[in-house]
Amino acid sequence: MNQRIIAIDGPAGSGKSTVARLVANQLGWSFLDTGAMYRAVTAEVLRRGIDVHDDVAVASLASSVVIVTTPRVSVDGRDVGDELRTETVNVAVSIVAANAAVRRAMVARQREIAAAQPLGTVVEGRDIATVVFPHATLKVFLTASLEERATRRDEEGTESIERRDRADSLRRASPLRQADDAVVLDTTGRDVQEVVNEIVQCLKSQDSA
Ligand code: CDP
Repeated sequence: MNQRIIAIDGPAGSGKSTVARLVANQLGWSFLDTGAMYRAVTAEVLRRGIDVHDDVAVASLASSVVIVTTPRVSVDGRDVGDELRTETVNVAVSIVAANAAVRRAMVARQREIAAAQPLGTVVEGRDIATVVFPHATLKVFLTASLEERATRRDEEGTESIERRDRADSLRRASPLRQADDAVVLDTTGRDVQEVVNEIVQCLKSQDSA
């Protein structure tokens, strides 16, 4: 398989989406925001009035809906873009994302989406380098201080971000973890374009090695 993947993982507000999108643009590759997929499932679970703790019902929904992430995020054709970052979704998404069967369904879809891209895909999330694409061309782990991450996400608040990070890191199914072979980049106080250039440079030096 000749699939090219840049895997970008990291905690909430570390800059993954912004950086991943710009790296993809610069390379002419596709971009996949896997957090949006977990958020989309969560929004649909809430809309249908399913109890987020009902693992069987949530997993059954996750494996039966069609999630599209581009150009807009939709579930079975219904645009959910405006629902993804509400407080209720911020609270419930960590529970939905800890459901192992939900993760299996999302990972299968993520691999399918990436396999369909002609050049390569920049994929961002929590478990991309460790579980979804363990053989990714390049693995990046983005970090930033909690203060800066909270400032970037002023609509969410420090406590909520800390709570999600804790839940994501401590869960049994595919916890947020830095891959052993990932390049670690601390984005605190750094210019976005500078971080993007560094990642593109890493890819180039790897290609020429
Ligand atoms: O953008 P932010 O970093 O705040 O979060 P996100 O990427 O939209 O992800 C939302 C939530 O989805 C995370 O807090 C995780 O619980 C979950 N998630 C996950 O478990 N695995 C992924 N690959 C991506 C997101």
